Amino acid sequence: MKNLTAIDASSILHPATNADDFARNGSKIIESGQGIYLRDDSGKQLIDAVAGLWCVNVGYGREELADAMQKAARQLSYYHTFSGMSNAPQIELAERLLEKVPNGLTKVFFGSGGSDGNDSLVKIVWYINNIRNKPQKKKIISRWQAYHGTSLATASLTGLPSFHTAFDLPMNNVLHTESPDFFRHGLEGETELEFSARRAQQLEEMILHEGKDTVAAFIAEPVLGAGGVVPPPQGYFEAIQKVLKRYDILFIVDEVVCGYGRLGKWFGSELYDLKPDMMTTAKALTSGYFPFSASFVTDEIWQLLKEGSVKYGNFAHGYTYAGHPIGAAVAMANLDIIEKENLVDNAATVGAYFHEQLKQRFANDSFVAEVRGAGMIAAVQLVKDKTNKTFFDKETKIAANVAQQCYENGLISRPLPSLDSMAFSPPLTCTHKDIDDIVNIFDQSVRSVMARVL
Ligand SMILES: Cc1ncc(COP(=O)(O)O)c(C=O)c1O
Repeated sequence: MKNLTAIDASSILHPATNADDFARNGSKIIESGQGIYLRDDSGKQLIDAVAGLWCVNVGYGREELADAMQKAARQLSYYHTFSGMSNAPQIELAERLLEKVPNGLTKVFFGSGGSDGNDSLVKIVWYINNIRNKPQKKKIISRWQAYHGTSLATASLTGLPSFHTAFDLPMNNVLHTESPDFFRHGLEGETELEFSARRAQQLEEMILHEGKDTVAAFIAEPVLGAGGVVPPPQGYFEAIQKVLKRYDILFIVDEVVCGYGRLGKWFGSELYDLKPDMMTTAKALTSGYFPFSASFVTDEIWQLLKEGSVKYGNFAHGYTYAGHPIGAAVAMANLDIIEKENLVDNAATVGAYFHEQLKQRFANDSFVAEVRGAGMIAAVQLVKDKTNKTFFDKETKIAANVAQQCYENGLISRPLPSLDSMAFSPPLTCTHKDIDDIVNIFDQSVRSVMARVL
């Protein structure tokens, strides 16, 4: 039999993987998935408490999605959407999505993933500001700890230094303001509201320092995902949005993780009262069964794009797989499941139970400083001692060790090593019993690691 692990180690450059370690340790091969469970090639069953990369919201092995995919592939396996060409699935999907997205978003642009979705919006921002005769207004402000993708523009927007170091990024016209992480950056005695006001003031100072006529857009995830699962502190987006309005700065909301129910509402924008001018979605739109993204803009932006075509000719942007008929059909079937099974409400109620259980379980432990998140996304902040907020030494690799122990005990969790946090975003289909299983295995795993390192 072929040694797949050996072939893998000698042939594949894995994303977000330490290439040196990987050559020594090899891969973990996942063979199959059903519901919230995965099975690896050793036959080990694992609960996937991350839903892949926060995307398999309806769970694995859904026949409805496989059937939709097969049917679409048999009818029209592929055709492009350049030069005004179209297909019925993408048109039906557009109509359905535009009824669901936050008010004011009236047009959609399809792509293949979160990075290209955000990339498209950055290009649209630059393009329309040329149309508006504001060629200097091009800077995009993102936040430290943000994650917006790994293409040239979106790795630049991502506010995690490892995505910049040695890649010669961030590129020009991308700036980072301070992160909304109150746990890490709140001052002694400062309330969340005061912290939010301070962050809004820092944003305003950056805009004025750069020149208000040079800043085009601000991008944010409703809840910071890969950067720590950090929900906005109280009053944060209200204060930030006032600053954006004051200086005619577009608000790009990145709903790639939060969209389609993860937070217990259809969109994070709904939960936090965000008014996006532009919005990116991907991942849960097809529950990861097909690479697909949908980016949205307002009518005002659409009118400028039309003007652009009169002035410059074709809108010269797009991807081979934009509006892919199979992806659109899968998205439709996925939305059917989310609606039929009330998964958005389930994320709210079972998600609340999840947070409650994690909080209760570690309330008296000095190695958990906080449990944060919203709906069906959570992070557990590990520390050496919460009473004086001491963190583990880097060499302890606490998050990686806990993740490894969880895996051995049958649970996939997501380590966020730079923050010593463990993230969870299980499928929205989780029941109370599934949550009990996740919390029990995590509890047992984290305690056995702490017994070794504390
Ligand atoms: C908030 C957010 N935006 C964008 C992306 C990039 O998406 P993709 O990996 O599909 O390019 C991700 C991926 O995790 C994400 O979490």
